Amino acid sequence: MEIKNSNSNDAFFGFDVAEMPWSEAYRLLIHCVAPRPIAFVSTLSKNGKANLAPFSFFMGGGSNPPSVAFSPSTEAPGKLKDTLVNIKETGEYTINIVSHSFIEKMNQTSFSYPHGVSEWEKSGLTMAPAVKVGPAHVAESLMAMECKLFQIVHHGENVGSANYVIGEVVYFHIAREIMHNGRIDPTRVDYVARMGGQWYTRATADSMFQLQRPQEG
Ligand SMILES: Cc1cc2nc3c(=O)[nH]c(=O)nc-3n(C[C@H](O)[C@H](O)[C@H](O)COP(=O)(O)O)c2cc1C
Repeated sequence: MEIKNSNSNDAFFGFDVAEMPWSEAYRLLIHCVAPRPIAFVSTLSKNGKANLAPFSFFMGGGSNPPSVAFSPSTEAPGKLKDTLVNIKETGEYTINIVSHSFIEKMNQTSFSYPHGVSEWEKSGLTMAPAVKVGPAHVAESLMAMECKLFQIVHHGENVGSANYVIGEVVYFHIAREIMHNGRIDPTRVDYVARMGGQWYTRATADSMFQLQRPQEG
């Protein structure tokens, strides 16, 4: 990576975003904001064609009402990803949480297939009917959230710019196998999260710990 106009010192390299191409900023950003959970998003086009794609620019933001955001970035000025086009058209989507058991299948859906090719068929993942929205949830996913669009916030318009899709969760699907005494047991989920470069991480029972909130200051 070329370091231009940096204010580097003994401890840190400095990178001035104003002096770097967007692709280098992307590389730094995805290492900084990590590990990221993966929103595996199921949508329908206005003609009813099903689409499925992963997005790791993904977060929850509130719980009353339950609110989530993810960002399909702009591919080129005026060219938006199918997921975003579908959500603009229908206002509905389902976000599936990714476990290690179907990580390869999830990855396969991120390939840019031509229009008309179904990522569901290519990946071999199974559709399970949604309750309050049109797009199916992924039967292999242990947790899924049916969402209705609240707002789309565009930040920039060139390649790599953000399109924050903010949605309200209207229905949860939680697999019985991860429930224990009426609560979700995170050690049963085998979560996968994305980091920088091609790196992923896996939240298994041996890597988890609990931390109580402080009782006094
Ligand atoms: C694990 C993973 C995470 C991804 N996260 C994002 C993301 O946050 N934003 C984005 O624009 N693309 C992301 N991608 C790439 C999209 O999945 C890819 O562009 C996909 O083809 C978009 O599909 P669509 O055009 O059907 O919406 C990610 C890919 C993978 C494998």
